[in-house]
Amino acid sequence: MLIDADAQANLTMSLGYSRPDDLPNTLSAIMQDIIDDKPADVSRSILHHNEGVDLLPSNIELSGLEVRLINAISRESVLKTCINEVKKNYDTVLIDCMPSLGMLTINALAAADSVVIPTQPHYLSAKGLELLLRSVSKVKRQINPHLRIDGILMTMVMPRTNISKEITATVKSAYGQRIKVFEAQIPHSIRAVEATAEGKSIFAYDKGGKVAAAYEQFGKEVAEIGEKQKNRNRADCIR
Ligand SMILES: Nc1ncnc2c1ncn2[C@@H]1O[C@H](COP(=O)(O)OP(=O)(O)OP(=O)(O)O)[C@@H](O)[C@H]1O
Ligand SMILES: [Mg+2]
Repeated sequence: MLIDADAQANLTMSLGYSRPDDLPNTLSAIMQDIIDDKPADVSRSILHHNEGVDLLPSNIELSGLEVRLINAISRESVLKTCINEVKKNYDTVLIDCMPSLGMLTINALAAADSVVIPTQPHYLSAKGLELLLRSVSKVKRQINPHLRIDGILMTMVMPRTNISKEITATVKSAYGQRIKVFEAQIPHSIRAVEATAEGKSIFAYDKGGKVAAAYEQFGKEVAEIGEKQKNRNRADCIR
């Protein structure tokens, strides 16, 4: 399942729901019910996408909710409560976050088992990365001790440019010891822009292309980490 926890609703729109503000049931309504201590019917808001994923969509109302979260009791765990309602139905739940480090992102980090950090090979993105890593450590210490970082994903990479190469090398040398930098790198491609505009995934839009191939490789790397973690958890249980 995919959860759009970004008030800009880019994920919702990228999947073809081009007018998210017209959707009657979105993440913000559910989170508001949880804040108000009302029963939350999460399944009512879930959209079944024709590519075989479910989506919990968002829209601009989520930005109003972010402000209301500040005064809520258990303000960090509202999204977790929401996910707990439906998580038994899914193998994997992916939460798409905003680049800002507000209450919604804290909620996502509090609910997650692990984090993937996409970053572009630009100086400013690399700076944002440092801030995000600090927030992840803080959430790990204070709210969610089980939180792991699966890795850093370099995206919109222009492989032949010096700046791409330099920043990728800088990220690897600065964090590579502590954090996995995925082997897969998502190349910059107009096909990705077109897929977004068409409201399709890159697999539906350009299956044989290099962006789809890179995402497939990335998916394999993430699945490997998941398997290793499962085995580790099993071993811990036996011990
Ligand atoms: N590999 C790519 N190559 C070129 N353009 C891309 C690629 N991936 C995404 N884009 C384009 O970049 C824009 C932003 O993409 P996306 O929403 O995935 O990024 P984001 O980091 O989540 O953005 P935001 O920070 O606003 O949430 C979209 O218009 C999308 O089409
Ligand atoms: Mg985004």
